Amino acid sequence: MGALRPGDRLPSSRELMRRHRVSPVTVSRALGLLAAEGLIVTRPGAGTYVADPPRGVAGAADLSWQTVALGERTIQADGVLRLLALPAPGVIPLAGGYLHQDLQPSRALGTAMARASRRPDAWERVPVAGLPELRSWFARAVGGAATVDDVLIAGGGQAALSVAFRALAPPGAPVLVESPTYPGAMEIARAAGLRPVPVPMDDDGVLPELLAEAFAATGARVFHCQPLHANPTGAVLAPDRHEQVLAVARAAGAFVVEDDYARYLSIEAPPPPLARYDAHGTVVHLASLTKATAPSMRIAALVARGPVAERLRTAHAVDTFFVPRPLQEAALELVSAPAWTRHLKSVAAHLRSRRNLLAAEVTARLPGARLRPPAGGLHLWVRLPGWADDAALADEALRAGVVVTPGRLFYAAEPPGAYVRLAYGAAAETDLAEGVRRLATVWPTPTT
Ligand SMILES: Cc1ncc(COP(=O)(O)O)c(C=O)c1O
Repeated sequence: MGALRPGDRLPSSRELMRRHRVSPVTVSRALGLLAAEGLIVTRPGAGTYVADPPRGVAGAADLSWQTVALGERTIQADGVLRLLALPAPGVIPLAGGYLHQDLQPSRALGTAMARASRRPDAWERVPVAGLPELRSWFARAVGGAATVDDVLIAGGGQAALSVAFRALAPPGAPVLVESPTYPGAMEIARAAGLRPVPVPMDDDGVLPELLAEAFAATGARVFHCQPLHANPTGAVLAPDRHEQVLAVARAAGAFVVEDDYARYLSIEAPPPPLARYDAHGTVVHLASLTKATAPSMRIAALVARGPVAERLRTAHAVDTFFVPRPLQEAALELVSAPAWTRHLKSVAAHLRSRRNLLAAEVTARLPGARLRPPAGGLHLWVRLPGWADDAALADEALRAGVVVTPGRLFYAAEPPGAYVRLAYGAAAETDLAEGVRRLATVWPTPTT
């Protein structure tokens, strides 16, 4: 075959089957792939021929002019790209923000997708805000005063956050973020020309007095908040701070974007979302399905009341039109099936044993490591001994065969200490202990 030249005729399908001892399906698939790559052409009635090489510029073009055209602007995406990176074979991911395949509801997802795709209207348009039944489901999940009309379906939490930031704040505006926080939120803000401004938090979430000061100092109209199992610390906003945070934002005339990404990753029973107490339309609530299912179940919802809901809907429609209907239908099938509650219970039970296992391994094998086991989410936030270099440690860990996330990525400004984030949900459970063993080989020695 290697001897064929452009214009040469390929043997017949029958001959190819005979020569390679393969089925007609394999031959037709192979020919289809070659045709799709432009390597062969079929002339009806005449046979299949090796295609001519593509015309046009020969050799590698000089594309350096593009650097000038693109200008000085860069899009920071280290956090997002690390989240999405696929670990190399043999490397243990104590990093990443999605469930390991063993924890995903693979069979239920398959059934839901099959049912969704069989509907006669599966590929039709949907209302731009999303399928009404799915929106109702999200409205019921948030509770309080939320109704179907307050819900917008977006293609995953990241897309929803991006719509929210851009719809709520003009380029150049500040956006308050917790410190530390999810790097993807800061990256969205920066890509939209916004300025993430950190507000300190403690083990009980953001500090309301400092939030008030930050609003006053910056004039910000948006605060991105993760009240439940905050990424990376795992902190849960203390119930007595819920009212305070809402009151502070209301006094500043600002919105709280409640990033409720981890509601279905709770190990202990979670407190209700801020949105449930929101009497004045302060909260733009974000719920996502990816975290408790699979990364490609890219369905999320923004729930908000008043003119802001309309702003979000129009911003989303201009960007995306709407989220593909088959995925919305599949999400609806999934969350309406009796297996859904069973799945959530099983995820909670597995996360509990994984969290306990990883925390015990870290405490036993990493001298000087300090952590507070979270009540949910996917991560341990581990303080390194002294001022060890978290980035260097992450690099060395990778060479030792384990991926960990350096803490500095989670800060908009100076980190107050050295941390790494270790995921207990992303690797196979049987690999967690080995991951810590590998990390121990490069772990800094405590100086005191
Ligand atoms: C706090 C937080 N919000 C939003 C997202 C976005 O996730 P997704 O787009 O899969 O819903 C993530 C992902 O890690 C996250 O950690």
